[in-house]
Amino acid sequence: MRFPPEFVDRVQEANNLVTIISQYTTLKHSGAGFMGRCPFPDHAEKTASFSVSESKQVYHCFGCKKSGNIFSFLRDYNGMSFPEAVEYLADKAGISLPVVDDPQKNEHYNELQDKKKQMLKLNKTTSNFFHETLKRVSLDHPVKAYIQKRKLNPETIEEFQIGYAPKEWEALSAHVNRQGFSAALAEEARLITPRKEGNGHFDFFRDRLMFPVISASGEVLAFGGRILEQGEPKYLNSPETPVFNKSKTLYGLAQTAKWIRSEDSAIIVEGYMDLVSLYQAGIKNTAAPMGTALTAEQAKLIKRMTNNVVCLFDSDNAGQQAAERSLPLLLAAGLYPKGLTLPDAKDPDEFVNKFGVEALKQKIDNCPELFNMVLQMWMRDYRGEASQKVKIMDQVRPVFDAIPDKRLKSLYAQELSHRMNVGLDWVRAALTAPLDKAAAGRGPNDYSTADQGQAVLKNSEIPARKPLISISGAPHAEILLLQLALKSRANFELAVGNSNQQILSQISHLGIKTVFEKAQQVYRQDDSKFDRLTSLLIEYVDAPELMFSNSSDLDEEKEKKMISDCVKRIQQSFLKDQAKKMGQGINKNDTEKLKEIEVLNRSRISLNKTDKKD
Ligand code: UTP
Ligand code: MN
Repeated sequence: MRFPPEFVDRVQEANNLVTIISQYTTLKHSGAGFMGRCPFPDHAEKTASFSVSESKQVYHCFGCKKSGNIFSFLRDYNGMSFPEAVEYLADKAGISLPVVDDPQKNEHYNELQDKKKQMLKLNKTTSNFFHETLKRVSLDHPVKAYIQKRKLNPETIEEFQIGYAPKEWEALSAHVNRQGFSAALAEEARLITPRKEGNGHFDFFRDRLMFPVISASGEVLAFGGRILEQGEPKYLNSPETPVFNKSKTLYGLAQTAKWIRSEDSAIIVEGYMDLVSLYQAGIKNTAAPMGTALTAEQAKLIKRMTNNVVCLFDSDNAGQQAAERSLPLLLAAGLYPKGLTLPDAKDPDEFVNKFGVEALKQKIDNCPELFNMVLQMWMRDYRGEASQKVKIMDQVRPVFDAIPDKRLKSLYAQELSHRMNVGLDWVRAALTAPLDKAAAGRGPNDYSTADQGQAVLKNSEIPARKPLISISGAPHAEILLLQLALKSRANFELAVGNSNQQILSQISHLGIKTVFEKAQQVYRQDDSKFDRLTSLLIEYVDAPELMFSNSSDLDEEKEKKMISDCVKRIQQSFLKDQAKKMGQGINKNDTEKLKEIEVLNRSRISLNKTDKKD
């Protein structure tokens, strides 16, 4: 859903960044704002250099230089999309989502929203029940032995809220009933199943180790349950429900999204145990689909957090198929996929247990692009025969069609030409020739008819990132002026207010100039918005950290002095530049121009005299 800007404003104003961030780090009053230890995991700091301004609703870390507003925090810390963040914040503030115009739809929509909320509550209750049950079982219970066998330590069980579904037929049914949830809701959440004979219900998950599937914002969406002994199915998953769409969900993001962000890379594994086991071993930037091949929607989800993906595949046939299917999907989403099949181990979990985490890290660091890995598989029996070349071209064709980036396409074409020892022209022609209908759409690579393939075609829909105003590389005085101007209304007036209008035309850096212009626009329209200026501007600039000054406790007088120093320095450079430009285009007899230059130089020198520091 697209939210009207007024709604977004209302939601933002109804929330407090301090409250949100306090969920993740302890903030203490300090000066004009709050300080605490940086919550971002890649920083892992011991001292408090993370500042949050309550009045401006922005954060800035003086250590790692991360900064942003409430939306960028939820994005970078929790991997939420903008609409998700808006919904999350609206819900937190008790604001109902904008109603749809059509009254019929509207009623249905609100009903559904209500139901979803209830269901999420029920799922949370259920997850707590399983988790508590696991904590309470006796030491000689088989689930304890199983946990030991899988080497899951207590911190991991806590972190992932892993639980145990009791063996009894109606343990959960009775519990949620006691908690006041209706059987109808629990049935629709697929937690209980109606009995065929008579009335009553029995539990869907019984005697299994339970993995709750938790969204980035902490909602329990579904469950996966592992059988303790041999048996079928090995994993029982929640079927789809109003709050669980399997193809749009990745397991683990509640714990891993922030690591994917900070490492700028996502490692995709096949399921619950692999993810949990790698996390416990210290590889935390992971995500896992649940029992299905990766979908286009999941690829988009990853794209919101990073461009770099490493897929770990099991070393069996299914693993190979998964690699083949994932390749075009990941490329279509604009990601840079790499691929890795682990030797001498069934899966990543087994690999770490056998060879240690360092061995895996090394493999991950050195793994090839997924394109090359898949090509290698397709060329396993390659002997350079002409018919093989043609068949390989048929196989790679859909992969190429999925790649949005022309440069990447052209490099992969070169790779093909090289490996098959054919001319680049031949490869290009083969990639663009009309498709032989009989040859296309056959075999394991026929993803174009599979539902996930749809997204390959809709690739143009993938939203480009908003173009940002670049402020990096601006002269020091101009950055400093921006920092000071954003600190207080008085500073802003002094720096670029009515009495100092000409400064905008003298600022040399286009990005800084644009930011000031935007700021003035907002401020002029509504000067009560001053406090929100920084938080608005953060969305537009490439290096938001430059908007925060490192010295937070200057007194007013010192700030005033610094502002006028900056203004002077900016004017000097401007005049110097003007003089230089003029000097380039005139000859010695042009007395008019020469006089102008002299005037320019004089005003520069007089500025200099009042400013000894420069
Ligand atoms: P695997 O069979 O590779 O399981 O299935 P695993 O993760 O190695 O599990 P362990 O180590 O034996 O405990 C990979 C994923 O496929 C889904 C699950 O999401 C699983 O994590 N799966 C597998 C099912 O949904 N149902 C099944 O019966 C089996
Ligand atoms: Mn396994």
